[in-house]
Amino acid sequence: MSEDKITGTLAFTVFTAVLGSFQFGYDIGVINAPQEVIISHYQHILGVTVDDRRATSNYAVNSTDTPLIVTPVYATPAPQVDREAAGSAQLITVLWSLSVSSFAVGGMVASFFGGWLGDKLGRIKAMLAANSLSLTGALLMGCSKLGPSHILIISGRSISGFYCGLISGLVPMYIGEIAPTTLRGALGTLHQLAIVTGILISQIASLSFILGNQDRWHILLGLSAVPALLQSLLLFFCPESPRYLYIKLEEEVKAKKCLKRLRGAEDVTKDINEMKKEKEEASTEQKVSVIQLFTDSSYRQPIIVALMLHMAQQFSGINGIFYYSTSIFQTAGISQPVYATIGVGAINLIFTAVSVLLVEKAGRRSLFLAGMIGMFFCAIFMSLGLVLLDKFAWMSYVSMTAIFLFVSFFEIGPGPIPWFMVAEFFSQGPRPTALALAAFSNWFCNFIIALCFQYIADFCGPYVFFLFAGVVLAFTLFTFFKVPETKGKSFEEIAAEFRKKRGVAQAPKAAVQMEFLGASETA
Ligand code: GLC
Repeated sequence: MSEDKITGTLAFTVFTAVLGSFQFGYDIGVINAPQEVIISHYQHILGVTVDDRRATSNYAVNSTDTPLIVTPVYATPAPQVDREAAGSAQLITVLWSLSVSSFAVGGMVASFFGGWLGDKLGRIKAMLAANSLSLTGALLMGCSKLGPSHILIISGRSISGFYCGLISGLVPMYIGEIAPTTLRGALGTLHQLAIVTGILISQIASLSFILGNQDRWHILLGLSAVPALLQSLLLFFCPESPRYLYIKLEEEVKAKKCLKRLRGAEDVTKDINEMKKEKEEASTEQKVSVIQLFTDSSYRQPIIVALMLHMAQQFSGINGIFYYSTSIFQTAGISQPVYATIGVGAINLIFTAVSVLLVEKAGRRSLFLAGMIGMFFCAIFMSLGLVLLDKFAWMSYVSMTAIFLFVSFFEIGPGPIPWFMVAEFFSQGPRPTALALAAFSNWFCNFIIALCFQYIADFCGPYVFFLFAGVVLAFTLFTFFKVPETKGKSFEEIAAEFRKKRGVAQAPKAAVQMEFLGASETA
């Protein structure tokens, strides 16, 4: 059937769109390995002297009770100087935590505007406009050696984060709208696949003999300008979303023209009929506000579960690994931490691909639970490895294996599932607001982890992952008792599942007799 083909135009368009997701991944991963060189540059420009041995890690090496942070060391440690030293160390920690977390602040704010911008300008122009932010962010970071680096990096990363927040809504939406129905799931997952590819490439580029060194770290940070430029150029050759043209602008002729290009066929009646149906369905339901999501009893339970799934994903500590794994590996006694970090990136990519296959076979709830249980045990072994490292040198391998498995379990369930499961909880009316709120909660928790991970690590020492194990266990129990299975179920059946969990028998007033759209259509 012509509609189900991957045509050249479709492949080219999806490739262009996921260049945005690639940048998202690149920006997540790029701050990890060069931590040491950038911190020492901050120290240099701010005139802070730091003990090299400890500055290389957030953790005091082979120590279980010393605070895990860069500590300035002076020749004659008089009490007054000690205080100054502690103050300077704190300043560096604050600046570094901000350099990492400002990215998530930008993402958090922008996550609310992706859909809005896409509707206002159209998908293509919205992605082009977003790219101007990406370029600005990359420029600030690329030039950060020339001025006050900490300010340029922190502002550059917030602007890049803003870009990523926008595209984390825009890219899945655009792909869902241009993909033929039967390929929506497969093409939709390319967003996450591009994210993890971006993470891996940033980790490879961060190798000290490539860009992760004293001379070139600023180029490493500014390099996301390359995919941004490439995407800006290629977007001019991509067709606008036919759904946007037909449903939002009511431009049937233009919609048909774009569809013909995408499908490589003259007859696009099937797509047009589908969009007609979607338009009719959308007009039967009112948009739902954020407040209504919490006050209307039929939405309350699903929105709480949706937010909890995203909180579970982020508070599992996964981005603690992606932002800080190099220093964690260093603490765990791995001699080549950067290569271990690349190993994490590679495993992440492999298991994202595996999860694509599994998600279609196993249920969402069971995969999420299996992933969380696996992560719980891995977190325990990660901390055990750190705690016992003093006694047994081979514990470094236990920590490393546990980190690899932690990431694998994450990508099997808790990584991809919240992103598309939320769309399955809601019908047309509440779906956009619910998705925006879910994305916001994801970025908000991402921000909390980016900002606080270092402080938590300082406070807990090698016991840090016991804490995350506890958090993962709590979310696992929540999932077990409160999260319904959605695979293969209609919206009505899912709403009934939620009622069962609430102990309510009758149908809610807001229930709509309609099949929910496939997750990847809107997620
Ligand atoms: C998911 C998370 C993101 C994380 C990534 C790692 O997309 O939302 O925060 O960095 O997975 O693969």
